Amino acid sequence: MSKPEPTAPVTADLLIPQHVAIIMDGNGRWAAARGLPRGEGHRRGVEALRKTVRAAIELGIGYLTIFSFSSENWSRPAAEVSDLLGLLRLFIRNDLKDLHRSQVRVRVIGERDDLTPDVRSLLEEAEEMTRDNRKVTLVVAFNYGSRQEIARAARRVAQQVAAGEITPEAIDADLIGRHLDAPDLPDPDLVIRTSGELRLSNFLLWQSAYSELVFVPTYWPDFDRATLEGAIAEYCRRERRFGGLAVRAGS
Ligand code: IPE
Ligand code: IPE
Ligand code: MG
Repeated sequence: MSKPEPTAPVTADLLIPQHVAIIMDGNGRWAAARGLPRGEGHRRGVEALRKTVRAAIELGIGYLTIFSFSSENWSRPAAEVSDLLGLLRLFIRNDLKDLHRSQVRVRVIGERDDLTPDVRSLLEEAEEMTRDNRKVTLVVAFNYGSRQEIARAARRVAQQVAAGEITPEAIDADLIGRHLDAPDLPDPDLVIRTSGELRLSNFLLWQSAYSELVFVPTYWPDFDRATLEGAIAEYCRRERRFGGLAVRAGS
């Protein structure tokens, strides 16, 4: 009888995407399934985020974008909104030094103007402290909505036209892209959504034009390196064409 082939570590043949973006969803359902308050799901979600950042560093992912609070999440009950804002504050206060030590560069996308000054200055501090780090860029999408981001970009372009700096004919996709919140970052290669929901919920609509989308049933608090590797393995099986002819996902 032939011996089964030993299972190679999954990372051995994974072609790691340069930019992975994650819609961290399912905290509330994770908690409800255990008879716990939703806030407990959010707290456990922060643990999963810590693990995921470590896994991204170990796997050599260059950019990790996480959707942590959407423009539409303000419509949740006030207590839940304040729980989520409190967790962001805690995450930055507790983890910023560790992230910095691990050479993580933090960037933030989303509308900052309607955040309270303390949250705004925490986000600025995180970006400022870590700006020269090069191991991995952690992009935090906070108070983020993609339509709002595109509208902001359109407004900036319109202001340039109104000021006579450019003509309307100069407006093309490239120019709009250069006015988005983080125009220097590459588009995501892979967008993962947890919790089994099959939608983008206003996340990176412009940037994900040619991203591979992977939906996993796992609730966010249960997400770990193995789930991430599974999603990357799925990504590696995709054929990216960008409207042209076949290209292997990881190449
Ligand atoms: C994701 O979990 C966290 C945020 C959207 C801030 P949810 O809170 O959406 O959890 P579900 O989808 O209700 O289970
Ligand atoms: C998307 O999840 C927003 C974040 C993960 C921060 P939601 O739970 O808010 O999305 P919907 O309402 O199910 O589409
Ligand atoms: Mg949700």
